[in-house]
Amino acid sequence: MAEEHPDLPQRSLPAATVPAEVVARTERRWLGLMIGVLIVMMAVVVLTGMANAIHPPSNVETIDPTTLHLGGEFAESNLGTAQERDGSLTVRLVAGQYGFAPDCTKVAVDTPVKFRLTSTDVIHGFLLPSTNVNTMVVPGFVAEVRTRFARPGIYRMPCNEFCGAGHHGMWARVNVVPKEQFKPVALTERSTCVQQ
Ligand code: CUA
Repeated sequence: MAEEHPDLPQRSLPAATVPAEVVARTERRWLGLMIGVLIVMMAVVVLTGMANAIHPPSNVETIDPTTLHLGGEFAESNLGTAQERDGSLTVRLVAGQYGFAPDCTKVAVDTPVKFRLTSTDVIHGFLLPSTNVNTMVVPGFVAEVRTRFARPGIYRMPCNEFCGAGHHGMWARVNVVPKEQFKPVALTERSTCVQQ
């Protein structure tokens, strides 16, 4: 903003010079507009995230990646689809260069599904196109994503984090079947569709 200099002779501004108060008013309007745009963009991010149940990779749960195979939640016998007492499903997967174990899991449509994944080596990605599922799988941490499939079908599961020379060939699938085709899993059982 221009300051007053009483000792300077008052001259009229040359033509085409914008008076200081007009500049200040224009700047205030632009500032207001920018703040408005930021508020709208933040609202879009927050509201669409809430409406589509998008989970940022924020599950802070650590695990020792060197002993996964020896026992505990991610031992081979515990991988695949588990059915909880409330009927919801929990799918456990291990990602490693260059594949997911198991590479095919089966779940029921319109049922709450919780995916729990971890990595044995480097960072991998877990993405199910056309769903809210998209997270990184970081060694040392357990990635957890909740979803509910609206339509049956085979959902491809490409690794979407570059993880090495075989990255392009790293993918698995989730077979979402109608409820009547989903065979209930006993509480202690784990099911996959790898052999089918
Ligand atoms: Cu695993 Cu890319």
